[in-house]
Amino acid sequence: MARELTRVGVVGLGAMGAGIAQLAVEAGFETVGREVELGRAEAARDRIAHFLTRKVEKGQLDTGARDAAVARLRITTDLADLGDCDVVIEAAFEELAVKHELFRELERVVAGDALLATNTSALSVTEIASVLERPERAVGMHFFNPAPLMPLVEIVRAERTAEDVFERAYELGERLGKTPVRCADTPGFVVNRVLIPLLNDCIRVLDEARVTPEDLDAGMKNGAGWPMGPCALLDLVGADVHVHASEALYEKLREPRMAPPARLVRMVAAGKLGRKTGEGFYTYD
Ligand code: CAA
Repeated sequence: MARELTRVGVVGLGAMGAGIAQLAVEAGFETVGREVELGRAEAARDRIAHFLTRKVEKGQLDTGARDAAVARLRITTDLADLGDCDVVIEAAFEELAVKHELFRELERVVAGDALLATNTSALSVTEIASVLERPERAVGMHFFNPAPLMPLVEIVRAERTAEDVFERAYELGERLGKTPVRCADTPGFVVNRVLIPLLNDCIRVLDEARVTPEDLDAGMKNGAGWPMGPCALLDLVGADVHVHASEALYEKLREPRMAPPARLVRMVAAGKLGRKTGEGFYTYD
């Protein structure tokens, strides 16, 4: 019988990993979060506690539930501490070599029947899993930013993903309160295959139509019903993250619209990455 999923590991506690860890503790899972430096792990835990406290302040959560959720998160810098996890969701830097090293190491420390999931957004799950002795245990679980708020998770079937692993990842997505969709391991999966070129088009239109970021955002919100404008969204995602994902998809698909627009590349070179650096298309306190 397949092992019950009760303990979740999250590797990488940046914006995505911290959001996933927040979902896991809120859903009642004992959770182990791993970062390379303790300071970063502590910052992620503080961020999770902050968002849960905001829920208490807004009457969406009681203090006991918040405290219990925060207490379910254990942070570490040591991958070996994920040894008793039933599933590990990797949300580390989007570099194949980094993910390969982590997957190799994770397979050494977790139980033989533990699931290994990756939150990659633009790399191939099949390629990431290729270093595993048992690649059938690997699956993609692609969350959207901000993970605690965005309902979708794409459950990505790699070439060798076992059927029961795929379905258990789907069920985990549901237990985390998400709306999962099943898809194959194609470049950009479902949403980024559409959203990345669309956002690139938006940025090209800035120059072509000589429109300001404010007016472009107002246009897409009021004329296309987007919840936030493309410039505000890119500031949220991070220009560096978006450019990196665009480059990865362009490399695979060779569609000109996938290539990152020069304006965004210049912003990355100048360190204008969006919210995280205090300046992108907009400035932030
Ligand atoms: N983590 C946890 N909680 C958060 C959070 C975060 N990162 N950000 C905000 N919250 C909480 C806050 O407590 C906030 O309340 P307060 O401001 O009162 O503290 C609460 O959520 C609600 O926040 P907002 O009022 O800002 O919520 P909203 O109703 O305006 O919706 C939104 C925000 C869900 C982000 C909405 O604007 C939206 O759907 N935007 C589009 C986002 C999107 O398209 N994301 C996909 C990006 S692409 C991607 O992710 C793919 C990839 O691979 C990179």
